Amino acid sequence: MYKGKGNFIVLIALVSVFTVYNAVLYMGEETSSSSAPRMSKEAIRGEQLWQENNCTACHQLYGLGGYLGPDLTNVISDPAKGSDYVRTFLNSGVKSMPQFDFSTEEQNAIISYLEHVNATGYYPNYDSEFSKDGWVTIKYK
Ligand code: HEC
Repeated sequence: MYKGKGNFIVLIALVSVFTVYNAVLYMGEETSSSSAPRMSKEAIRGEQLWQENNCTACHQLYGLGGYLGPDLTNVISDPAKGSDYVRTFLNSGVKSMPQFDFSTEEQNAIISYLEHVNATGYYPNYDSEFSKDGWVTIKYK
């Protein structure tokens, strides 16, 4: 008779366990992508301006970027700051930030982009939990 029958059964068992494990892991409840807000056209324009003007050379989003200026992830929802505060910085410039010459429409686009970023989460995010299956659960907006 076929000698490797025992091995074959073990193989099938392992493949089944692997399949079920993956199904449970990846087909479970989605937390991150389903709750992420979609970007408006205006916000996409703002992101373009953000890139073209190299804001990230001096500013960070989620801690990533240059470190001359502050992190802007939640500048919009900061009770002491907000959109008018951002607008003021954009066209006035300060000692270490260049003065830009954005039109009102461009300013609105940048603010719309920063509103989008702000709606995606918190930075720094201290409310994270590591679960046994390796996922990290963080606090979402
Ligand atoms: C050459 C570096 C540099 C570039 C480029 C730059 N910034 Fe800045 N920005 C700074 C610095 C430094 C500050 C802090 C100034 C201060 O508080 O005196 C700042 C402050 C700000 C603030 C106020 C933040 C806060 O929390 O007080 C906003 C908003 C801002 N920048 C937006 C932008 C945007 C949008 C761009 C791109 C269009 C940009 N900056 C490009 C250096 C830069």
